Amino acid sequence: MITLSGKDVLRADQFAKPEIERVLEVAAKHEKALAAGKTLSTLRGKVLATLFFEPSTRTRLSFETAMLRLGGQVISVAEAKTSSAAKGESLADTIRTVEGYADAIVLRHPETGAAEEAARAARVPILNAGDGAGQHPTQSLLDLYTIKKEQGHVDGLRVALVGDLKNGRTVHSLADVLSNYGVSFLFVAPAALRMPTAIVERLQAKGISVAETDDLGEAIRTADVLYMTRIQKERFADPAEYERLKGAYILDRAALAAAKPSITVMHPLPRVNEIALDVDDLPGAAYFRQSANGVPVRMALLSLVLE
Ligand code: NCD
Repeated sequence: MITLSGKDVLRADQFAKPEIERVLEVAAKHEKALAAGKTLSTLRGKVLATLFFEPSTRTRLSFETAMLRLGGQVISVAEAKTSSAAKGESLADTIRTVEGYADAIVLRHPETGAAEEAARAARVPILNAGDGAGQHPTQSLLDLYTIKKEQGHVDGLRVALVGDLKNGRTVHSLADVLSNYGVSFLFVAPAALRMPTAIVERLQAKGISVAETDDLGEAIRTADVLYMTRIQKERFADPAEYERLKGAYILDRAALAAAKPSITVMHPLPRVNEIALDVDDLPGAAYFRQSANGVPVRMALLSLVLE
């Protein structure tokens, strides 16, 4: 039997395809229940802690909404820098403390590998809500859910990932999750921000076709799914380098005239300037539907991990 009960959610490549499919199935069930106005009590009596050491709007609020919609309760440190970490407490000690109060912990942290470090210290499940330039596995599941919903299927799609592929944790996790399906990838990045070699090699080892370019036009002309990302300012050691790259890719309505009519445009948000406002009311502009999908997908994860 497929079970995620008691498990940590740390990286997208930890999941076998049947587990991913189970999450999608439970998410669809929850989306239906929400649409029907049902009140659920699956996690009544359970407490979720959300600990965010980096800014967040969607990830924190959709996790908290998910927990509340399941009848559970939430304790939160929205600005974890103002927690005892500011006094020099180690992450492991913070986690050992918080697990005394909560049944599961959602953690966002600026250091790559922080979620794994937390999981080593914790007895309760840790859900990685982003570890530096590492992974963002729960985002990748809601991205996959969105692709399936918008396009009707996943196998056979050409997926273009665009922008800061070096530092973007959402694209790292999404590439891994999609490698369980018959997709082909086009990675679009400036030379300095290419997808890490280890990830490209991992995909190719699974037989996935990967092409790389710095030309957004090629992606617009050929993609079924165009996944735009923000240049990750906070990961740059040199502000001048960020200034040089921040306008690398800007998608606007005029450019999309060359796209397939069925194209789905996605973005994990927040956007800075990567997608012009005139794209927002095109039928394929899916990014706000994508962020809303965070609730049923995180309901699925919480209910499966805490069942
Ligand atoms: C992303 C993140 O935090 O990695 N946002 C999100 O969780 N939806 C993307 C980003 O910050 O650019």
